Amino acid sequence: MSRLKRRHLEIALSRLRGHPSPSILLEQYTIPADLAVKILTLAAYKYDDIAGKVVFDLGCGTGRLAIGAALLGADYVVGLDIDRVALDVAKLNAYEAGVSDRVDWVLCDIAVFQSSCHTVLQNPPFGTRLRGADRVFLERAMEMGRVVYTIHKSETDGFIRRFVEDHGGSISAVFKAMMTIPRVFPFHEKRVYRFEVYVYRIEVV
Ligand SMILES: C[S@@+](CC[C@H](N)C(=O)[O-])C[C@H]1O[C@@H](n2cnc3c(N)ncnc32)[C@H](O)[C@@H]1O
Repeated sequence: MSRLKRRHLEIALSRLRGHPSPSILLEQYTIPADLAVKILTLAAYKYDDIAGKVVFDLGCGTGRLAIGAALLGADYVVGLDIDRVALDVAKLNAYEAGVSDRVDWVLCDIAVFQSSCHTVLQNPPFGTRLRGADRVFLERAMEMGRVVYTIHKSETDGFIRRFVEDHGGSISAVFKAMMTIPRVFPFHEKRVYRFEVYVYRIEVV
């Protein structure tokens, strides 16, 4: 497959529909298209973790990471989310992006899903609304995937590193990024929220 240019991928992902009624409790923020592209192209072009692989997107929401993986040549992608509305939008997004044949959407709690894959991509809840949600996502991702790309608030870096080590993984790459979230909830006072996150690539042994 010829390389899909970053710019084209970013345009494709930024055209996808967002959630019509995001839930505060589920921390339904959509990943910014530029950050999704950064993670996806690192996974695809530097580490060869996408093309020809089975990829799971845990807490896929409206599907940016899952659809991006399919556009970059993943063999088969599964997007999982606990919210039916998000999955309905994701399904429509996949159809419009022309990748429906390689993506399935599963309505479930990631805590109970049993399967395995090569690559997990996830932008999990940070656990600010439901304490410990980030930990459950990380644990399940490391159980399911051989390689995990995961995003966490920078202040949890120490916890993430200890957790990965205690669960038999190793961090092979990490980069800092700014997460930008537009005002989506009534309690948001600012037009845009920006905070620092770390993106980790974890190898599971
Ligand atoms: C921060 S959003 C990320 C959405 C999407 N991956 C993105 O990056 O645009 C977290 C997602 O996790 C989902 N979620 C939260 N708890 C979940 C659980 N226990 N099982 C499955 N999905 C869950 C939410 O519904 C939400 O769509």
